Order: sequence, then C-alpha cells, then structure tokens
Amino acid sequence: MKAQLSLDPAFVVADVRRRTFGSFVEHMGRCVYTGIFEPRHETADEDGHRRDVLDLAREMGVTMVRYPGGNFVSGYRWEDGIGPVMHRPRRLDAAWHSAETNEHGIGEFILWTRKAGVEPNYAINLGTRGVQEALDLLEYANHPGGTYWSDLRIAHGHAEPFGIKMWCLGNEMDGPWQTGHKTPYEYGRLAAETARAMRQRQSGLELVACGSSNSSMPTFGTWEATVLQECYDQVDFISAHAYYNERAAGDLASFLASAVDMESFIEDVASTADHIGAKLRSRKRINISFDEWNVWDNAATGTPTVDWPSAPRVGEDTYTLADAVVVGSLLITLLRHSDRVTAACQAQLVNALAPLRSEAQGMAWRQASFWPFAHASRLAKGKVLDTHVVGPNYPNERFGDTPVIHSVVTHDEESSELVVFVVNRHLEEPVELSVGLRAFPGYRVVEHVILDDEDVHAMNTEQEPDRVQPRRAESSQVDGEDAQVLLPPVSWSFVRLR
Ligand code: AHR
Repeated sequence: MKAQLSLDPAFVVADVRRRTFGSFVEHMGRCVYTGIFEPRHETADEDGHRRDVLDLAREMGVTMVRYPGGNFVSGYRWEDGIGPVMHRPRRLDAAWHSAETNEHGIGEFILWTRKAGVEPNYAINLGTRGVQEALDLLEYANHPGGTYWSDLRIAHGHAEPFGIKMWCLGNEMDGPWQTGHKTPYEYGRLAAETARAMRQRQSGLELVACGSSNSSMPTFGTWEATVLQECYDQVDFISAHAYYNERAAGDLASFLASAVDMESFIEDVASTADHIGAKLRSRKRINISFDEWNVWDNAATGTPTVDWPSAPRVGEDTYTLADAVVVGSLLITLLRHSDRVTAACQAQLVNALAPLRSEAQGMAWRQASFWPFAHASRLAKGKVLDTHVVGPNYPNERFGDTPVIHSVVTHDEESSELVVFVVNRHLEEPVELSVGLRAFPGYRVVEHVILDDEDVHAMNTEQEPDRVQPRRAESSQVDGEDAQVLLPPVSWSFVRLR
C-alpha cells in the first residue's frame, strides 16, 4: 500500500499548544497514594513524593496536571487536605467507594507540580458545594497574604501563593453518576455565578465549564448549548471527555479508528459553542479543554466491591501495543485541532488508567502507551501544519471506510525541524508513505522511530517492563522531492526531518 502526504510551511493550523500535553491526577485508586505519593517508599523525598514516578512524569514530558478529580471532586472538601496531616479527617469517597485519608491535598499537589515543572490545573467541587467554597479556595491558593485563608496557607508552610491560573468549574456535571448531578440550566447558572465571583477576586483566571462526559450522552449538544447560553461571557473553555477501548469498539479494526469519533466530537463541540457565540453576538471564541481522554476498559477494571478500602486497585489497565497506537492517534487528533483544543489532559498519570505504573514499596515502569505521549510532547514544537494525505481506506464495523494513515506534522521555525507523527491503522499491510518535501528543499531524514510489535496485544508488565519499546528504522530516506518512509501495520511512528 502507498500513501502521499502533502505539506507546505505557509499552511498553518495553529501554534502547538504546550497544554496539549497535560495529564490528570485524581484521588482515584492508587493514582495519588502509592502512585505519586508514598512517604515510606525508598525513593520518597521530604514531602513523601516518589522520585521514581516523578522522574518518569518528567521523561514523559507532561506540561500541566489537573487535580484532584474527576468524579472524586464532586464530593470533596478541599479544606480536609490542608494543615497538619494528623488533624486531617478520614472520609468516605462515594465516587470510588474508597476511604480518603487526606494525607495528600492542595499544598502537597503544588509542591509536586513545582518539582515536576508542570502547570497546576485545579478542579473545584460544584457537585455538593458552591460559590463560597470556591472563593475560599481561591483565596487560600492565590492570595498573597493578610487575609484569613491566605494567612492560613502561609501558616501551613506555603509562603508563596500557588498561582493557579486554570480552574475547572466542577466535573462531568451532566452525568447521573456524578454527586450533585445537575440539569444543564442549573449547572450553567452555577458555573456563571462561580466564575463571576472568582473573577471579582482575581483577574487573569482561565475558567473551564463542564461539557459532556462523552459524545454518546443523551444530552450531548443540548448540554453544551444550554450551559454556554448561561456562562458564555464568564468562561474561556468548555471541556470534553472521551475514553475508548477495544472491547467497547467491538473489534480491533474499529478500535484503531477511535480518533474518528474524537474528531467529530471536537468539531461538534466547537460548532455548538460558535452557535451560542453567534446568538449572543459575541466576538469571543470558547476553546475546548479536552481534559480527560485515553484508552480505558472501564468494564474490566471498575470500582471496588468491598467496603471502603483505602487506595484500592481501580482502573489499573495494562495497555497493549494496539492501545498505544490508539493513544498516538488520539494525540494526533488533538494536535490537528490545535486551533480549538488549546488544552488537554490524558487521564490519568499513574496506576489509574495510566501510562505509568508503580507498585507499593516496589518499582515504577512505563506502559506501552507512555511512548506516543513522550515522543509527541518532546518533539511537537512550533506550528501545526495543515497537511493532506492521499491514501487507502480500510473498512471497519463502527466507522465504515476510514483512512489507513492518520498523521499530523509540526514545523519548528527556530530549529527548522519538521516532525511527522503518523499511525498506520491497517491490521496486516505496511504502508509506503511519501512525504512531499518540495517546500522544504535540502531536507533529510534525521530519525525515524517506530512503535510496533508482532503481537498487537503485547504489553509491558512488572515482570517484563520493556517488552513494548520504540525502535529506530534505518531505511527511511529522501529520494528526489519525497521522504520515503515504511510504516508497519498497527504502528505509531515519528519522523524527524531537517
Ligand atoms: O478518569 C476517570 C473518571 O472518568 C473521572 O473521575 C471522571 O471524570 C470520568 O468519568
């Protein structure tokens, strides 16, 4: 099979957004406890954070982290997680049917983000709480000092304000599973008033209204329109969440095409937001924060059935090579829509549906799905180019005829580097891809790295942590005006050209 990719530096979609490479740490399962935080671990630092997990998060190139939920946040009192640890209450967490010890709270999170070099993104509880609690939290976090909450933060050892810019106004409030679930009108009003009050206290905040939990929600579309009708002027983003897995997709060929769903989800949310903008005669554009996305086989790794364990194993999916290729394809989609998706968080960072795994008192390792994220975060720089691929389609049950090749190209004017990120979705056939370099004379292939495996269900485990690993391809080269690149079936690649 052959495919041709055309590109030109003059045709730009948008800047690569650093926030595209966000992640998510929720008090869910073992993401916090024995994930990023385990005071008794041999690598723990003075704050109880695991250095081995921190190092892997840095290597992965995470740029922003959303915290503390997720479903968890909709029943959470942020004050439980501040002050001396021995005075912090142990609570029931209805979202994950767990006991929450509150040993890790906002102060520890901010210390972790500083060590990891990532931007904090904080979700507030609009399920069981409202405007006043959001204002107290904002004052505790961001006010320099001289007031009740800011002085309390200083007394807790955090002299410097946390400087949190990006705030999620609740989580998945459209979902009946959410504590304090609301109608779109109820939520839109609450989001508007919370945002208005927060902005009265501090300018320059970036606020995210909850969009739909996924594009199959019965209220999808109506939810976004009604919510934005109420809070359009007060917010900057509408969120989107999506999870995919092979079992729900029905078959591997359909699963590999999951990004088709994400693509139309993004386009539908953007058009709905623009429709409300037009109705309100507003020149402002609402962007999308895709603040939960990943592969997650929910049915296989659901909530605990025993009563209220602390940090149980929840959502500990082991990711296959095929999962990693889909993760790569979802990242390609986010990058291709960098004009509207200006922030995104892969959910989550460690243990709970995560590219990283760790064991209590044990090792930490990279899942197969670590690699596409790490590659794209490290190499996608400068501008996203508007590219076109002419190539074969393949049939699949769920999406019909789908392009075999899915790609995005970034161009960094500073280093002159072009990077092609590309997935071959075909189950059996390799594809010979020609990358047209007429507009980039003299360019050579610097590096072509492939993630593939003869077993598409191969995975990295504690026993075999490096089973699925990227490899360098030696045969890719420029021939005339084209770079010739061979893409194995079910694979993720990046090709650097300069
Ligand atoms: O990321 C896991 C869960 O998925 C989050 O808590 C929730 O927001 C979503 O449904």
